Amino acid sequence: MAAPPLVYVLNGPSLNLLGMREPEIYGSDTLDDIAGRLEDKAKGLGLEIDMRQSNHEGHLIDWLHEAQAREAKAVLLNAGAFAHTSLALYDAIRSIRTPVIEVHLSNPAAREENRHKSYVGMAAKGVVAGFGAIGYELALDAAARL
Ligand code: DQA
Repeated sequence: MAAPPLVYVLNGPSLNLLGMREPEIYGSDTLDDIAGRLEDKAKGLGLEIDMRQSNHEGHLIDWLHEAQAREAKAVLLNAGAFAHTSLALYDAIRSIRTPVIEVHLSNPAAREENRHKSYVGMAAKGVVAGFGAIGYELALDAAARL
């Protein structure tokens, strides 16, 4: 039997602290809680996920390249604050054919002005933001239909 299509789920800076990091903005679920639910959902959708977190921009870039090399079906990317600063992530997303779906727990467009611009969003296929932890599941649903 063929392996299920693979979806990378990449998380950027300080998302390792989810659950205790500004819970009034980001909620009380940890990244492990989100990963557990996403694993279950992926099984139901006939997908496999590879979920990672790094506080380093270069890791995210390497993993985007790797997603294409492994012929991943899609990448869900919550780049944290790098979304708003990283032309390098914009270039990396534009450099691969693998579709990238930007995810944010909060809705950056409704927050401080320096969060309104997203380099990730400018290069992504689509964006899910503002729905808290379930945003990852909504994005996985979208990835399954690409
Ligand atoms: C975030 C939004 C970003 O603006 C912020 O820097 C984060 C988290 C979110 O998931 O809501 O680190 O990506």
